[in-house]
Formats: sequence, structure tokens, C-alpha cells
Amino acid sequence: MGKGGFGKKGGDSKGGKKGAKKGGDKGGKKGGKKGGKGKDGKGKGKGKGKGPARVTVVPHERFPAVQIAKAKEDSMVTQNMVPGESVYGEKRISIDGPEGSKEKTEYRVWNPFRSKLGASIVAGVQYMPIEKGSKVLYLGGASGTTVSHVSDMVGPEGLVYAVEFSHRPGRELTNMAKKRPNVVPIIEDARMPMKYRMLVGPCDVLFADVAQPDQARIVALNAGMFLKNNGWFIVSIKANCIDSTAKPEAVYLSEIEKLKKDHCKPKEYITLEPYHRDHAVVVGQHRADKKKKA
Ligand SMILES: C[S@@+](CC[C@H](N)C(=O)[O-])C[C@H]1O[C@@H](n2cnc3c(N)ncnc32)[C@H](O)[C@@H]1O
Repeated sequence: MGKGGFGKKGGDSKGGKKGAKKGGDKGGKKGGKKGGKGKDGKGKGKGKGKGPARVTVVPHERFPAVQIAKAKEDSMVTQNMVPGESVYGEKRISIDGPEGSKEKTEYRVWNPFRSKLGASIVAGVQYMPIEKGSKVLYLGGASGTTVSHVSDMVGPEGLVYAVEFSHRPGRELTNMAKKRPNVVPIIEDARMPMKYRMLVGPCDVLFADVAQPDQARIVALNAGMFLKNNGWFIVSIKANCIDSTAKPEAVYLSEIEKLKKDHCKPKEYITLEPYHRDHAVVVGQHRADKKKKA
């Protein structure tokens, strides 16, 4: 069971501030807010006559699909699928290849204040099933801020099916997808997965960030139709969208109970303070194999 897991200690989320502080070295508050070093995201420092600040990029110690740019302040980054392009004005960091080579690799700074998924990693989530090559069904794509980082994470062998029902952000999402062949924009209501079943293949991971009171049902419908057995779900919960009168912790637990009734086995939940107030993320597996008796 992960941090903030269930069972006897259920409800005792260990995410939140504590997690965020710990995660700070992996691209936390400061790093996330200020992003990479230097002007134009080229990895050059402001200087004060000292020359360019040195930035190195290393894989995240537990989730290699994301990286950490190490400078005076660390920031979480993803390797840019479309070098030379930012998606939402985020900073880019270009790193030279080995000596003698002209190759460069570009990364985009992922600000945890602008993404619940990003915040969950910085806050110290134990499970992050999105990997290189994953097929991800993303519900609530909005204009594609986080979708673009998921696209970087899964890389050219992966796919992100991004569902968004609102037309204005949907247009931006669609434009972003024109440059990212691994993003399939779907402008539909996630409550009606039958409408897009012909566009979506079997998925390894479902990420939901629709901020709707019936989100657990939406997750169950989509998981039942598209997630492989033992596939993973990651659900972002905005407490006051579900019940603005109850305590956030009570809302998280009641959402978790709803998920359990629909073949979704939560393994962990984590609150997203200080990045997103009264939000939590639940991670678990759908139609998980029962442990064999010895
Ligand atoms: C909190 S925002 C998502 C932010 C986005 N995940 C990100 O990090 O960049 C929620 C989005 O879900 C969309 N949404 C809400 N209900 C939906 C539904 N039933 N089907 C599809 N999209 C929905 C909203 O239009 C909104 O753009």
C-alpha cells in the first residue's frame, strides 16, 4: 500500500504539505514556479557576469518518464516531443549532447501549480503508471496543458486519447495535437464513451480530471470500456465540486468508496497542498488480479 494508502490507516493522507516539501527537490514549489533557468529557456543564467548557469538534467529517481533539471533551484521537466515549441508559454531548457556531438535535447518545465498530475509527482505519489510507450485515456483535457506533458512522457511509441467536451479549450487541444502525433483529441462528453469507442484502443492508464460531481461514475464507465485488466487509473478529486459542505477528507474517502464499488482498487491517495487547495489524487488498478493464495 502506498503513502496515504487505505486499510487500517485509511484516510490518513500523507501527501499534502509534507509530501510537497519532500518533493520540492524533485521540482517542487520553487522550481515549479520559477521554472528552468535562464532567458528564453535556453539554459543560460541571468548571469551577473558569471556566465551561463550550468543546468543538468537527470531522470526522476522513481519515474524515468519525467526528469529533473538541476540548477540553483530544481524543476521537474519532460523531454519535449516537439523541440523549439512551447505549448502554454512554459520555459524550455536545451541540453548539449555528449562532447563532440551537435545533438541537443530539449525539455519543458512542468509547473505543479498548473497541473494536478504534475503536482501529484512533486508531492511524492508512490505510483505513476504513465511510462514511455503507455496508452493513456485522458478525461478533461482542457486546452492541453497537462496533456502535452503526458504526450512527452509516453513518447512517440505511446498514445494519449484526450477527451474534452468544451469547444473553446477543445480547439486549442486540437491545434496542439496537430504538432503531436501521439495525441488524439476527442471533442465529446466523457459521460458517453460509446460516442468515441471507435477512436480509442485498449488503454494502460486512465487519467481523469473533469472536476464533475459524477466523476467516479464517469471513470467507471470509461475504465469498463477502455482499460485493460490490471490497467491503472489516476483520478484527480476537487472536493468542492463534489460536496462543498463536507470536509475535503470526507469527500476523498467517499469518492474512494464509490470507485471500489466499480472494480477500481485504489492503492494510494495523496492531497495536493500547497499546489492545489482541497484537491487529492487517487491512484489504483482496475479489475486487478486477486492475489493468489500460497
Ligand atoms: C480542471 S479542468 C482540466 C485541466 C487539465 N486536466 C489540465 O491539467 O490541463 C476540467 C476540464 O474537464 C472538462 N470536462 C468537464 N466535464 C467533462 C465531460 N463530461 N466530458 C469531457 N470533458 C469534461 C472541462 O471542460 C474542463 O476543461
